[in-house]
Amino acid sequence: MTIVNVEALQVRFADKVAVRDAAFRVEAGETFSLIGASGCGKSTLLRVLAGLQREWQGQVSLFDSPVRPGARFQGMLRRNVQMVFQDPYASLHPNHTLYRTLAEPLKIHGETDIKHRVTTALTDVGLPADALLRYPHQLSGGQRQRVAIARALLLRPKLLLLDEPTSALDMSVQAEILNLLNRLKTEHGMTYLLVSHDADVIAHMSDRAAFMADGAIQHVFDRPALARGEHRMG
Ligand SMILES: Nc1ncnc2c1ncn2[C@@H]1O[C@H](COP(=O)(O)OP(=O)(O)O)[C@@H](O)[C@H]1O
Ligand SMILES: [Mg+2]
Repeated sequence: MTIVNVEALQVRFADKVAVRDAAFRVEAGETFSLIGASGCGKSTLLRVLAGLQREWQGQVSLFDSPVRPGARFQGMLRRNVQMVFQDPYASLHPNHTLYRTLAEPLKIHGETDIKHRVTTALTDVGLPADALLRYPHQLSGGQRQRVAIARALLLRPKLLLLDEPTSALDMSVQAEILNLLNRLKTEHGMTYLLVSHDADVIAHMSDRAAFMADGAIQHVFDRPALARGEHRMG
């Protein structure tokens, strides 16, 4: 199954072209990455695929179904695509306990067995069940990112969009989170679209990686090219 198919994608902000003529495909089970300098359009591309950036031109399909510009993601599409952001502190509500943060998406989607689901989600990412009554400020950066990942996985998405998920974290914590993501991907049978500016992270995580510059995809590195470190040049 093709999870993501993008053709001739263009995103503009006023007279600024943020993404130009982007085309790529991501197959089920892959980790496909986007690399490139700050401002080259990586986050904008992810936001289109998350349904957060609704103004765009071109063709986008998710799970072999076309998505139209302007469309709000609802139902299965909304469940199946989840995003994890760079800054786990900004993405968690400061006055909500972890329980509330994790229970809310389940309630919105009419799920049952919420207490059990929330506890499982937390232990799944390596946090103790008694952390449920804590607030974000009582957690380390790595623990907060674990909570953000737990929240993204609650609805059992097929596609996880990861926008620099470890760049706000210390090196040792980065490795823990990346290994966690790889374990969860296998266990839950997910597909990843990962943005990182770190060549080591790209080499460790990706099956393929697209190099972007000035809104356009310049080159796609396959696994052997990544293993040879070709993505480190230039
Ligand atoms: N909401 C927005 N309004 C105007 N310009 C934007 C907006 N979002 C992004 N941009 C511009 O689009 C370009 C690509 O941004 P972005 O996708 O965030 O890049 P990256 O994630 O690769 O750093 C940048 O020039 C940025 O300033
Ligand atoms: Mg970005």
